[in-house]
Amino acid sequence: MAIINAPRGTRDILPSESWKWAYIINMASQTMKDFGFSEVHLPIFEHTELFSRGVGETTDIVEKEMYTFNDRGGRSITLRPEATAGVVRATLENNLCVQGASAKLWSWGPMFRHERPQKGRYRQFYQIDAECLGIAGAGADVEIISLTIELFRRLGLKNLEVVINSVGCEKCRPVYRQKLIEYFEGHKDELCETCLTRLDRNPLRILDCKNESCGHVADNAPDIYDSLCDECREHFAEVRKGLERLGFSYRLNKRLVRGLDYYTKTAYEILSGDLGSQNAVAGGGRYDNLASSIGGPKVPGVGFACGVDRVMIVMEEQGCSFGKMPAVDVYVAALGDDSRGAVQVLTYELRKNNIAAECDTSGKSFKAQMKAVGSCKFACIIGTDEIANHSVSVKNLQDGLQETIAYDDVTEYIKSRV
Ligand code: HAM
Repeated sequence: MAIINAPRGTRDILPSESWKWAYIINMASQTMKDFGFSEVHLPIFEHTELFSRGVGETTDIVEKEMYTFNDRGGRSITLRPEATAGVVRATLENNLCVQGASAKLWSWGPMFRHERPQKGRYRQFYQIDAECLGIAGAGADVEIISLTIELFRRLGLKNLEVVINSVGCEKCRPVYRQKLIEYFEGHKDELCETCLTRLDRNPLRILDCKNESCGHVADNAPDIYDSLCDECREHFAEVRKGLERLGFSYRLNKRLVRGLDYYTKTAYEILSGDLGSQNAVAGGGRYDNLASSIGGPKVPGVGFACGVDRVMIVMEEQGCSFGKMPAVDVYVAALGDDSRGAVQVLTYELRKNNIAAECDTSGKSFKAQMKAVGSCKFACIIGTDEIANHSVSVKNLQDGLQETIAYDDVTEYIKSRV
């Protein structure tokens, strides 16, 4: 019978990689703390309407990428394709933003989208996500963008590009939408099939179509900046001023729309040249109507998510440091079968004292045990002599010197040397 493999688009994060993941998550955790964000753990599945209403019926995510199924109670459930809708739901459900209060929340974990797998694109992928809820002013947008940039700075990522845009609000977007429909109607023969279907339903998405011909048409489309209402125009100017004050450079891209319908005003992405076609390491923006679209009051919000899988690829490609690979410091070896019990006792004693220690439990010969010491700093050897003398032979594996240490002193001896 053939072995059952993992589903397409998923992958196993094995020990050779998992410690690097831990490094990235720890760095995120520290950065979030420094920016005043608190960690939350939210469900991986939610009611399907949270995403259809929150992310938007006409988005690719809701139309064709969600893992949706009926549970045993007949309710439609979806594996989260992104984190924002869930964070907003949790904020409303737990009254975190009542009476003008704001909440700064972050989380990380797996997301699920049924996309065509390729480099940097998986069906189960991981995001680090941060959301700031309850603040309408541009200062929150600047804080979120600076948080993204700071996280990547700490991780050592180079050659990133910050791209920003304003996608307007419920007051000015309908006017812009109409202008776009009129413009694209006149260029129907140059649009790809997907964009033809977007024409009436979501014409803004035509702007960021990757198809070359659509791109040419989109380049000459009416400019969103000419349609922004005063409030959106001022907000965008404030965001730009704030970024400049912090010394960040960015590129304006009037065609940046992003694939989620909840955005209002600011939308941004951080791009890397080291990723091929899936070049966004992070994306985010403001979503002032998301809370009301899922049945809550109007709670403004702004946030971002970065793809851990993609950050990992870029860090590997750029030779970034992941810190030190965790290693066991001490190998405790049994010289003869009679000391195997004592070896396990000493190993546990060391571990209780926060010393990373390893011993053989599979019955390996002494020679094989000594081959398994790997990058350990010390080998503690216990044979019948050591048991009789209540001692341990401690070999420093760096200089090869061996000493006999009283059993009761060995933990302190090692502790002061690792
Ligand atoms: P998004 O642009 O869909 O935004 O995803 C954010 C990041 O997740 C992307 O820039 C990319 O790094 C990573 N990503 C997305 N799809 C995949 C995939 N299939 N495989 C690997 N990585 C992927 C959001 O999800 C929004 N919720 C961000 C946000 C938070 N906006 C406001 N708050």
